Amino acid sequence: MLNKSDREFDFTNEDFTRARKLIYQYAGIALAETKAELVYGRLSRILRNQGIRSFKEYLDSLMGTHNQRALEEFINALTTNLTSFFRENHHFPILAEHLASLNAPITIWCCAASTGEEPYSIAMTACEVFETVTPPVKIIATDIDTNVLLQAESGIFSSHRISKLSEDRREQFFLRGTGKQEGFVKIRQELRNLVSYQHLNLLNHRWPLHNAFDAIFCRNVMIYFDKTTQTKILHQFLPLMKPHALIFFGHSENFMYQSEDLKLCGKTVYKLKQQANTHHAL
Ligand SMILES: C[S@@+](CC[C@H](N)C(=O)[O-])C[C@H]1O[C@@H](n2cnc3c(N)ncnc32)[C@H](O)[C@@H]1O
Repeated sequence: MLNKSDREFDFTNEDFTRARKLIYQYAGIALAETKAELVYGRLSRILRNQGIRSFKEYLDSLMGTHNQRALEEFINALTTNLTSFFRENHHFPILAEHLASLNAPITIWCCAASTGEEPYSIAMTACEVFETVTPPVKIIATDIDTNVLLQAESGIFSSHRISKLSEDRREQFFLRGTGKQEGFVKIRQELRNLVSYQHLNLLNHRWPLHNAFDAIFCRNVMIYFDKTTQTKILHQFLPLMKPHALIFFGHSENFMYQSEDLKLCGKTVYKLKQQANTHHAL
């Protein structure tokens, strides 16, 4: 089925298996067996751009490679970056209430930030709670995909991305592009200043983070990992949570039975069960 004759590049079952193994090894992403077409479509762009003649040649060049740029491109091609402003909106009133109860300075980690809609939604919520565009909040936004991080850092979005936001939010937090920038909006610099971006692979055993957080957003990324990886990552989060911290997951990510240390306190929102036993600084 994979060797369709009208394909530009040969793509065998073996090529697909190798690509699956590699993305699992480097990013923890467990691609289903049904994703062959997706892998072909995303990776064939790289082959075309680089004038590589076959998947075998391409995958050979990645094996045991020290070519970080090539691996980065491979990973970037296979991540799924779907996101939106105030996605799973029910989490934001919970965040607002949590922020209002905390002492400054407040730090939040958004660990699969994609193109920035999620960290900027957190920033907007903080501005609304503290009624200023300079709230005492720092957001660290990370992702494995270096392309989305660049996009997020730019703070520029097509106008339709914010069409579902209230007029208040659109007016208060975005600048509308004119001339060549027509059809685009830019997040206000004050909000941009609240967020710092960093490359981080959740699969790594050590994360370059030094302090515990008041809240962690880890939404719609654990679904790409298998149970073993999820459990390992869940346990790495624990020492990064302050005793009162909340951790937010995506709608289909239920970890009730994977960690005895977390207690459900809202729809896919958890807090530490035994606050006293958890370290709050590394
Ligand atoms: C579907 S998006 C979710 C974006 C956002 N959290 C949301 O809920 O709208 C998943 C993101 O997880 C990132 N990702 C996948 N594997 C990762 C890993 N091993 N480490 C860090 N980020 C990863 C992808 O690059 C992608 O941007």
